[in-house]
Amino acid sequence: MKVLVTGSNGLLGQKITDLVLSKYPNIHLVATARGENRHAVKSGYAYEEMDISNLDSLQTVLDSEKPDVVIHTAAMTQVDECEFQKEECVSLNITAVENIVKLSKKLNFRLIHLSTDFIFDGTKKMYKEDEQPNPLSYYGWSKLESEKAVLRNSTNYAILRTVLVYGTVSDMSRSNIMLWAYNTLRDGKEAKVVDDQFRTPTLADDLAQGCLLAALYNGNEIFNIAGKDYIGIYELVEKIADMYGFDMKNISKVSSSTLNQPAKRPPIIGLDISKAQEMLGYNPHSLEEGIRICIGK
Ligand SMILES: NC(=O)c1ccc[n+]([C@@H]2O[C@H](COP(=O)([O-])OP(=O)(O)OC[C@H]3O[C@@H](n4cnc5c(N)ncnc54)[C@H](OP(=O)(O)O)[C@@H]3O)[C@@H](O)[C@H]2O)c1
Repeated sequence: MKVLVTGSNGLLGQKITDLVLSKYPNIHLVATARGENRHAVKSGYAYEEMDISNLDSLQTVLDSEKPDVVIHTAAMTQVDECEFQKEECVSLNITAVENIVKLSKKLNFRLIHLSTDFIFDGTKKMYKEDEQPNPLSYYGWSKLESEKAVLRNSTNYAILRTVLVYGTVSDMSRSNIMLWAYNTLRDGKEAKVVDDQFRTPTLADDLAQGCLLAALYNGNEIFNIAGKDYIGIYELVEKIADMYGFDMKNISKVSSSTLNQPAKRPPIIGLDISKAQEMLGYNPHSLEEGIRICIGK
């Protein structure tokens, strides 16, 4: 089976490469991203430059590679940037998906599309796949539109919704909550942490596993792929402090409204993973195991 990954330089993209190289010897992997390959390992798979916002680039690579499955991880993922760069957000998060869906029909590949908890408003603890979306941010709206593009036109797909992804890969384009919290606590820096946001944080390695399980699954479905532990962001920082023996004295609790972030975040949201557990055999690590894997000690 040939699997092509978009955005292979990103956190999830690199974890998918790691997983295929370590556990799926029968999968022929084609990693694609814009610019140079930033994965530390450069052998055992193919790498092609592919800009998802450029239709020619998409067409040329997909036409020549003819994958059986495309795992579409690339997106404009900086939530606040999407509020200011709306055209770029539409181009990357919606138009590119519409183009990939069209190509999936022409070239007959299965599409695994990544989406987000940010399509919801976050007013209750756990969300199943069939809840009513109500995005609070431009990013959330754009990802909801991307889901609609898949549902409208794709004939062979899975949509995977995930939440607060964390992990460590080489040459990362951005940090994540666990690395930020660990480094801030270790260095004794002062920081404000919200005490009114709750999530089911997702280890990127688990999400990569979810992507491969969905790639091998036969059927059109939406799956929540997240961690199994529900926790507040402040409690999460406290947990890391406890696990590694750091002091919380420089960390202060604040409410989200005091941060004045450009994009509104859903306050209370966990993704219920029981459907993926039952239908895909998805079995994520515990939060504590995930933190240790991410921090590397
Ligand atoms: N991270 C989260 O907390 C989270 C939560 C919910 C859903 N998701 C979804 O999960 C997916 C994977 O996220 P992630 O955490 O792996 O994000 P990430 O680390 O930011 O990776 C996204 C990748 O997309 C690439 N990209 C952007 N524009 C591109 C273009 N025009 N052509 C090709 N590649 C392009 C970026 O390339 P550069 O590295 O060159 O910038 C980046 O490597 C995304 O669809 C995201 O919306 C993530």
